[in-house]
Amino acid sequence: MTAAPEPPEETRVRRPPNRIEFVILFGIVLLLATLLVNRFRSGPAPAAPSASPAPPTTAPTPEPPLTFASEFPPLAPLPEVPYPPDNPYTPEKAELGELLYFDTRMSGDGSLSCNSCHPASDGSWGISSPISFGYPGSTHWRNASTIINSAYYARLNWDGSATSIEKQNHGAWTGAVAGNVDSAMAEERLAQIPEYVRRFNEVFGTEYPAYTDALKAVATFQRTIVSQDVPFDAFLGGDEGALSDEAKRGYALFIGEAKCAACHHGPLISDDSFHSLGVPEYSGFEDNALNQITFRFEQLAKGATEDLYASATQDLGLYYITKLESDIGKFRTPGLRDACYTAPYMHNGAFGTLEEVVAFYNEGGGESPNKAAQLQPLGLSPQQQSDLVAFLTSLCGERLVLEAPDLPPYETWDSGGG
Ligand code: HEC
Ligand code: HEC
Repeated sequence: MTAAPEPPEETRVRRPPNRIEFVILFGIVLLLATLLVNRFRSGPAPAAPSASPAPPTTAPTPEPPLTFASEFPPLAPLPEVPYPPDNPYTPEKAELGELLYFDTRMSGDGSLSCNSCHPASDGSWGISSPISFGYPGSTHWRNASTIINSAYYARLNWDGSATSIEKQNHGAWTGAVAGNVDSAMAEERLAQIPEYVRRFNEVFGTEYPAYTDALKAVATFQRTIVSQDVPFDAFLGGDEGALSDEAKRGYALFIGEAKCAACHHGPLISDDSFHSLGVPEYSGFEDNALNQITFRFEQLAKGATEDLYASATQDLGLYYITKLESDIGKFRTPGLRDACYTAPYMHNGAFGTLEEVVAFYNEGGGESPNKAAQLQPLGLSPQQQSDLVAFLTSLCGERLVLEAPDLPPYETWDSGGG
């Protein structure tokens, strides 16, 4: 076979690589991939299979450095709160939002406020039952997330269903298993409270309160609930004494051997992304009628396929947003600032303590088809596990506690007609 004539210079540059080049390229890619994988797997080596092959001919590779933090944004203090251009901060707006946050008249039957499920008085800003209660006559179906630091997330809710706090809050006031109020009714009620009419006028320049402005005000208040200046921030700022020795060891584990920082990093100590950990299932969807009703209702409302509507027994998480089977069971990584005040943990409140959470990770997480590859049994000693908890506790600052303000009363209209 004669060699094909050389193509002109220009085409030659673009010709596909021949077999040898392919082999070389493939080799390089393989090498890089192996290096990368080894870097991620810096934890204890998995137990060797019993029928182990011949001993390695080369000396074992030295342990990689403890930290792999350079591959992720470092843990850092929180930046200034970002306010959206169409809803900038003013102190008067935040104050109005605070009143609305506590006002039960913003729910259908006048019995629930944001504060009912996100209590400010104990500093948790998220009630302590594993699954939240719901609008009277219903239950919710998820754990009430804390609203601490919600200002910083790109998407709100465990499945990321809301793209702004304002949109999240609309769901909270009007959703069937939360506030369940008709927004026009909410506006009528606000208009019947002269103090609100005055405050809305001052903040938004409107004659009567608008429901959409109420959303802006309550969102502004929430953006002020942030956990800056926790002991760990002082440590990052150079104050070595801000962390106990235990917490320092826990920090090294967190960004090293325990691989927590793969998903919990940056100022929020969350990648603001979604993963499946295989958290133990919540039994109520199968054995409690009210839980089951809400569960079915949510499948329908969130557009699960008919198949899944009928067969699902667990919260499908990110799937509801993307409708991809590969996203079933994925939930947003929660930030860990102030986590010691926000038990129970996970989207369904499966764990009551940070110790239980750490023990769960130590076992490599739970069972789930889409489980994150980063979760592997860690083999941490009891001391190491308690070091991790000590580090998590150093992410807790002073409790953010707020007592309910006095709310302005309804007054009847003077129609002027006599
Ligand atoms: C009946 C209880 C209930 C009420 C009332 C309620 N919430 Fe929630 N809230 C929840 C639950 C449960 C979740 C988790 C929902 C989910 O992930 O789908 C949640 C989630 C949130 C989140 C998301 C936090 C995050 O980090 O993703 C914010 C913000 C929030 N609520 C604010 C509010 C505000 C503001 C109000 C009042 C307007 C309110 N909630 C009323 C139970 C409630
Ligand atoms: C693969 C990503 C990933 C890794 C690695 C990871 N987490 Fe998480 N973490 C998450 C996600 C996602 C959730 C929420 C899961 C859910 O609700 O189903 C979570 C939840 C938590 C919570 C509960 C917070 C709350 O408010 O409910 C704690 C505490 C926590 N992780 C600590 C850790 C620690 C400590 C490590 C290391 C041992 C770790 N995480 C490793 C992704 C990760």
